[in-house]
Amino acid sequence: MILGLLKEVEAEKRVAFLPEIVTKLVQLKVEVIVEKDAGAKAFHDNEAYRNAGAKDLKREEVLKKADLLVQIGEPDPDLINSLKTNQIWLSQYNPLWNKEIVKKFQNKGITSFSMDSIPRTSRAQSMDVLSSMATVAGYKAVLQAANELPVFFPMFMTAAGTIRPATVLILGAGVAGLQAIAIARKLGAQVEAFDVRAAVKEEVMSLGAKFVEVEGAIDDSAAGGYAVEQTEEFKKKQQEVINDHAAKADVVICTAQIPGRKAPLLIPTKVVERMKPGSVIIDLAASSGGNCELTKDNETVIHKKVKIVGQSEYPSHMPADASKMFGKNVFNFLQLLIAEDGSLNLDFEDDIIKGTCITHEGKILNERVKSFIES
Ligand code: NAI
Repeated sequence: MILGLLKEVEAEKRVAFLPEIVTKLVQLKVEVIVEKDAGAKAFHDNEAYRNAGAKDLKREEVLKKADLLVQIGEPDPDLINSLKTNQIWLSQYNPLWNKEIVKKFQNKGITSFSMDSIPRTSRAQSMDVLSSMATVAGYKAVLQAANELPVFFPMFMTAAGTIRPATVLILGAGVAGLQAIAIARKLGAQVEAFDVRAAVKEEVMSLGAKFVEVEGAIDDSAAGGYAVEQTEEFKKKQQEVINDHAAKADVVICTAQIPGRKAPLLIPTKVVERMKPGSVIIDLAASSGGNCELTKDNETVIHKKVKIVGQSEYPSHMPADASKMFGKNVFNFLQLLIAEDGSLNLDFEDDIIKGTCITHEGKILNERVKSFIES
């Protein structure tokens, strides 16, 4: 099999895998071709890919020769038009948000995989790009908050008096939220976290944060580690509790999401208006509408002296390690597709392959994507 690595769009600094993964693929008898300068913005040049055993070629040649094409982001619609039916596509193309792309792949009969559809099971954990990128985002969110905040994160006892530690409220304690808790604690802040999944309470507390409790949530233990939609009554009660905690916080980091849905609104404008001047909200859910009413995707808004940062591209802001993590996840997944002689082996009996495959031979295989497209 020939595997082609494509360069991302201009604004994206990551690359889908680093040269270290080329070495591993070559050991599996896969021929790797790389679009020139694919890794340049992630600090890995063409020579590094060549030394690892890949050939670097022009984009047209990669597109023409590869059996399987890999990149991080969504494919351009024109690019899909230029693909051959027997080529396979692998990227993180968010099929639950991108109906058009799914339909294009389906209509062209192309087999496409989307890394964001990797099932959240223990066997697939090493392939979970969403968790990897959320880890980067949780880390970067806290660093940006500390940078923007006009007061210290840690407590200081100095000759000029005692500085109180900052209070950080984390909304949503999934992957990004837990990472944000850990980093905010390391920087010495007092941290509180809220999540509708009661099961995360232990994890939140083991990281040294206080869990904000709201009673009456619907049991979600059978939802595969994701949140479920809550009742209106619970949402009202939850809102009141969050309002009070947010109003006292110096920093609020928003990470609450239910995959495939618009982000839940947790910080309405009237709560922002109760926050202290100089407080900071970092909204990681900005690309799916934001947890804060005032969030604008990829913009920073200042409302009544509260800064609301809607940054959706944190992984691209740490391209070397984000690419390293993404590449390892991709490689772990690719191993399932590569036969002993280096050829392609698509075993749809494998739940990970089946779950990650969105389109194949003109059909939509992924059940969630299928019901979304047909709705
Ligand atoms: P996750 O699914 O692991 O965690 C989300 C958490 O939100 C879950 O624990 C869930 O129970 C909780 N939640 C859902 N509804 C809630 C509600 N009403 N109130 C409180 N908690 C609620 O998601 P992950 O991977 O941690 O990602 C979090 C967010 O970060 C997502 O919106 C994701 O798209 C975003 N993200 C942003 C990046 C950026 O650069 N800004 C990069 C990567 C991810």
